[in-house]
Amino acid sequence: MTGVTLPTDLAPVSATTRVVVCAPEEIGDVAAGVVATVAPDGVLGVATGSSPLALYAALIRRRTEGLATEGLRLFALDEYVGLPDDDPRSYAAYVRSVIAEPLGIPAAHVRVPSGSTAADAAAYERAIAEAGGVDLQIVGIGRNGHIGFNEPGSDADTRTRVVTLDESTRRANAEHFDGDLARVPTHAMTQGVATILAARRIVLVASGAAKAAALRSALLGPVTADNPASFLQRHPDVTVVADPDALREDR
Ligand code: GLP
Repeated sequence: MTGVTLPTDLAPVSATTRVVVCAPEEIGDVAAGVVATVAPDGVLGVATGSSPLALYAALIRRRTEGLATEGLRLFALDEYVGLPDDDPRSYAAYVRSVIAEPLGIPAAHVRVPSGSTAADAAAYERAIAEAGGVDLQIVGIGRNGHIGFNEPGSDADTRTRVVTLDESTRRANAEHFDGDLARVPTHAMTQGVATILAARRIVLVASGAAKAAALRSALLGPVTADNPASFLQRHPDVTVVADPDALREDR
């Protein structure tokens, strides 16, 4: 790790949250070191988005070095409503091509939320329970503090359900839809805050100044539905792996 020091007001955040500050190019490897502890056959909760890409690349590298990943079972955090799962912009396609296939995980051991009804959401919760719960959940953080697609206003007791996406979130994700906001789905199915908090361990990865306000208030601010990531303060085992920009105080 480089000589980056923890900003003094973040050390320690709480008894249950570790913050590892590292250079942006080290985030993937450091986070993969934590995630690798659930191999060879743990239940891994996976996030999509750009933040964990380096983590997945580092896991794939570890597989070439002998880490057994084929027995992992995967549960995704969320999915857009209305995109078929073979649409390249769907999170199902992301999980398949970026995570499962390169890690040698068979399709039967990969679940991504699908559908749009309460019964579909309940079936997803049941599938997680039947797998014995999530051993380790990877999360990113949205610029408004969302985790999964739990937008501000999502409370601690929320479970898997269909949500309406904030316009700011759709704008942030429009780059994957030819920059055209109108093409970004308006709804998603997401694990709830309570679903995420039920994981035994959580690893949050974040980089870049765009995440700083949300991440700092999640770690240091009040626990509130205004910033759903702040509920992570209630979890007994959270590791945050972030670069200095993602933790920097506004000046
Ligand atoms: C997306 C996803 C989240 C993700 C977050 C941050 O909208 N639903 O699961 O963590 O927003 O994305 P990124 O890592 O690309 O900044």
